[in-house]
Amino acid sequence: MSTQPPPARGVTTPLPGPVARALLQRGQHDMQSIYRSVIFDPEQSRGTTLVDVDGNAFLDLFSSFALGALGYNHPALLEVARSDAFVRAAVNPTSTPFLTSPEWLAFADEVERDWAPAGMSRIFCVDSGGEGVDAAIKAAFIRHGEARRVAQGRPADPLQLPPAEAEAWMANQGTDAVVISFDGAFHGRGLGPLSATHSKLIHKADLPAFPWPVAPFPAQRWPLEQHAEDNARAEQQAITSLIDLLEQHAGRVAAVIVEPVQSEGGDRHAAPSFFQKVRTLTAEAGAALILDEVQTGTGISGSLWCHSQFDLPAPPDLVTFGKKMQLGGFFAAPSHDIRQFGRMYQTRNGDRARALLALATLRALRDLDLLRNVRETGAYFLARLQELERAHPRLVSQARGRGFLLAFDLPTPAARDELLKRALLRGVFASYTGTRSVRLRPHLVTTVAEVDEAMTAFHAVARELDI
Ligand SMILES: Cc1ncc(COP(=O)(O)O)c(C=O)c1O
Repeated sequence: MSTQPPPARGVTTPLPGPVARALLQRGQHDMQSIYRSVIFDPEQSRGTTLVDVDGNAFLDLFSSFALGALGYNHPALLEVARSDAFVRAAVNPTSTPFLTSPEWLAFADEVERDWAPAGMSRIFCVDSGGEGVDAAIKAAFIRHGEARRVAQGRPADPLQLPPAEAEAWMANQGTDAVVISFDGAFHGRGLGPLSATHSKLIHKADLPAFPWPVAPFPAQRWPLEQHAEDNARAEQQAITSLIDLLEQHAGRVAAVIVEPVQSEGGDRHAAPSFFQKVRTLTAEAGAALILDEVQTGTGISGSLWCHSQFDLPAPPDLVTFGKKMQLGGFFAAPSHDIRQFGRMYQTRNGDRARALLALATLRALRDLDLLRNVRETGAYFLARLQELERAHPRLVSQARGRGFLLAFDLPTPAARDELLKRALLRGVFASYTGTRSVRLRPHLVTTVAEVDEAMTAFHAVARELDI
């Protein structure tokens, strides 16, 4: 691999460039090939610089929807990937619950000791974030079903139930228990998480869904100081609705699932007081609280787990992860430790190679003091976006953020898409969310100078587009 610094950022060809256009002809069998406009050069890309096959070099504020953490080709990850331990783990995959190895046990031990959210004592690993959410929802249903049977004086263990009851389970006569989610939420595209997902029609159309209740999400208006009263009112209304739903489904709510910041649904934030009340209400209702940290976790909020900034009265029951963690999965409090063999198993419960990358990522976050960088540079970035909003009030609104979870709105979807296109031509790769929001997900190593570079491009584009 080249040790040269990445090329200076800039775009020198039309997009896609000639090499990209020729390559795109070859990917037509991929169902998703229509989405690709930038073809990434994994060798030339470095740090926050994403280089394409035509040599165009972008400041990457997209990081593949918050997947990237340390930037491209980070030495700490390359070192692990070149190690014998990694090569052996990658070429000898195992079904880890059946055939484990010392490095997997060391991974579980270190994560539990150093990286798990407070109050979480178990980890369950799969591949993607959505699979992690699916598994966490299952864990909540399992624990809820067992607790209900015990309260009725019946066995917790489903294998000890009378045959008629067992037959009903086998014939798809599932539970009447529900999961409450929030409007605008995104929890993944599998048929379980999708029933808790309400962000976009395109995700849901034509697909079956469980008839689970949906509560309003108290999305804050920004700047927060100017909208304190409205925001408090929206929060109170959301909590009242949640209380109503918990009462309507009393004894049948297995879980309430919520993102610390609704990401795919439009970067919608709620106040810590909202999450505190949700924690109290779920505990009172005997429902698990699942915090979906697939997008907000692993440092991008400025703390390792975003919900640790909310000062909850008690830890959540389940916390999902994915993306930057390199693996998907969930952490569980002792109350949701599902031990019965076969209840939660998947073949790839524990990719040992990706576990090594996960540890390297987490250790680099600590060694490079990246959480501090995210907090400080994130606050600077938000201030600069607010300045953009003040300079172009008809074009830019609702600049908002927590750490590197940053966004702002344009008046229409078309204006948003045009801004993204023009920023890309100026060498800044940002992304979209909701209907008309720009979503920024910088790599955690992004510097103040790079924020200034991005802002120069956004100001130039805003001047072109402003009415
Ligand atoms: C909050 C949240 N949950 C779940 C998912 C699904 O993760 P994946 O795409 O890895 O399945 C996402 C993906 O964006 C997410 O943002």
